Amino acid sequence: TIAKDFASLQEFSVALIAERLPNYNWVGFYMLDPSDDGVLVLGPFRGAPTEHIRIPVTQGICGAAVAQGETVIVEDVSSDPRYLSCSIDTKSEIVVPIRLNGKIVGEIDIDSHTLNAFGSADRTCLEECAAVFGQFLEHKEKSAT
Ligand code: SME
Repeated sequence: TIAKDFASLQEFSVALIAERLPNYNWVGFYMLDPSDDGVLVLGPFRGAPTEHIRIPVTQGICGAAVAQGETVIVEDVSSDPRYLSCSIDTKSEIVVPIRLNGKIVGEIDIDSHTLNAFGSADRTCLEECAAVFGQFLEHKEKSAT
């Protein structure tokens, strides 16, 4: 099924991204709940377990990326009032939306233990990854109909 194939892609991707990039200390997916698109639900991740399993789109850096409809980079989470803490070690964060047919369906969230870990190269690369995830879903959607 689409959901099963996408879950495999997500599992593979978080493992690969987290293993290859030592600054990427927590790597995970949050996808909008299909039955309540006001809530992001934690998907496959690598890193310390988080208590933020469901995040309303009105909250957190994760919610901000959906609300703004664009990538959000926080150089220093301690000075951002939107930040929802997962780990006391986290210093910076990037959240990149994933779109299916132009509509945001989820996001990739990455935390670093290093301040200001995410620059324009990280952003470009992760936006490419997000585009691949979106295209995967689009392709699967088409081949299912
Ligand atoms: N820091 C996020 C919450 C998710 S954890 O980083 C895994 C936020 O502010 O939305």
